Amino acid sequence: MSRKMKNKVINNLQIERIAAEGKCVAHYEGKVVFVNNVAPGDVVDVRVTRGKNSFMEGEAIVFHELSKERVDPFCSHFGTCGGCKWQHINYELQKSYKRQQVIDQFTRIAKVDTPEVLPIIGSNKTQYYRNKLDFTFSNNRWLTREEINSGETFEKNALGFHIPKMFDKIIDIEHCYLQGGLSNEIRNKLRDFALKESLSFYDIRNQNGLLRNLIIRTTSIGETMVIVQFGEDNPNQIELVMQFLKHNFPSITSLLYIINLKKNETYHDLEVNTYQGKDYIEEEMEDLKFRIGPKSFYQTNSEQAYELYKVAREFAELTGEEIVYDLYTGTGTIANFVAKRAKSVIGIEYVEAAIEDAKLNSKVNGLDNTSFFAGDMKDILNDEFLNNHPKPDVIITDPPRAGMHEDVVNMLLRLEAPKIVYVSCNPATQARDLALLAEKYKIDIIQPVDMFPQTYHVENVVRLTLKS
Ligand SMILES: C[S@@+](CC[C@H](N)C(=O)[O-])C[C@H]1O[C@@H](n2cnc3c(N)ncnc32)[C@H](O)[C@@H]1O
Repeated sequence: MSRKMKNKVINNLQIERIAAEGKCVAHYEGKVVFVNNVAPGDVVDVRVTRGKNSFMEGEAIVFHELSKERVDPFCSHFGTCGGCKWQHINYELQKSYKRQQVIDQFTRIAKVDTPEVLPIIGSNKTQYYRNKLDFTFSNNRWLTREEINSGETFEKNALGFHIPKMFDKIIDIEHCYLQGGLSNEIRNKLRDFALKESLSFYDIRNQNGLLRNLIIRTTSIGETMVIVQFGEDNPNQIELVMQFLKHNFPSITSLLYIINLKKNETYHDLEVNTYQGKDYIEEEMEDLKFRIGPKSFYQTNSEQAYELYKVAREFAELTGEEIVYDLYTGTGTIANFVAKRAKSVIGIEYVEAAIEDAKLNSKVNGLDNTSFFAGDMKDILNDEFLNNHPKPDVIITDPPRAGMHEDVVNMLLRLEAPKIVYVSCNPATQARDLALLAEKYKIDIIQPVDMFPQTYHVENVVRLTLKS
């Protein structure tokens, strides 16, 4: 059946609900059909793009009825850009779908007794909430169907975002609603300047071109970091670009550049040059200051990161007497955030540079009860480590999307800390890990937090207590 279904058009399909990863679900002849860019309540004709025995995937090609749940997308790039795919769904519903995702994953995968999932903590800002954006220069601009059909000629160079699943096509962004401050102005003026000066935009297929990548980071106290990645080591042209930014945007507090002659855009292993200002920006949370270097991770929605960390700290119920482990600590933000309410905090993280930042952030904030260790969690958190460090009273764990390695889960089961606070950006892998932890732990509270409005992503915090 699978191959025969490909390209078949299914008429008048009623879109029913939203499933994992933001795809909408419909049914056709008893099979599930996943459809992108629609809303529950839409009635559409769908062209099947992929047919498997148990499910199909398709794209809506004709809309017969539009859902009452729809709102008008605010961004002119909606539908092409992969950034804010849920703009057509009102925010109240986005929140309820996110909470439902947690319920669905916990029911389907964890299959353990759970208390009712609390209402999601929404984001006050539903636009301009990101503190970091990463734009790519390309000589291979993505043209929409309307642009192609218009017969006009368009500029081939672009500065914007990758088209989903197309590594070599970039959508040219005129206005992005994700980041406030000077972000849109810096990007647009820099692109116009580069075009005027005939500077080359990167050619990803042939791996050449001067302008490669632009990263803009902002903080709630008004600091801005701009990093330009160059694909060619051309001192005169680099100077031209950096002078332009320096003179036109004097409020940039950290103006940096990187020469990247490698095949990929990652720069963790490259030298970062400070052109003007400091080599870091600062963020504040309560009475803490966090230094964010060009290679440091920081949660991309600062205001919601604060809400998330408050939930984690509240769930930890610290009295000042506890030994806390902060697993997957990143730059130690959670560790430093809870440190004043704990006896001591041990943070563990894979990336060595992040651990250096974590230590620096403790120092900057005068915290002397934290210690940080770099390495793979499953290797660091072993018997030798536990023989040399006090056992935890509370474990806070915030793993990447893949969740925790099974060895780490097994170690947590052996450690038997009275409380575990599990922060996750992927309820599916969180549910998988909770199913294993259920051997010794019961779930007593579940709190979703929305860090990324207009997307299907949901953050979820769970507290587990050791069964007696
Ligand atoms: C979701 S982030 C959490 C960051 C931090 N808690 C925060 O709020 O800023 C997950 C972190 O886990 C780290 N990580 C990923 N795999 C790891 C592993 N196998 N061992 C240790 N750390 C790992 C990543 O480098 C990243 O910093």
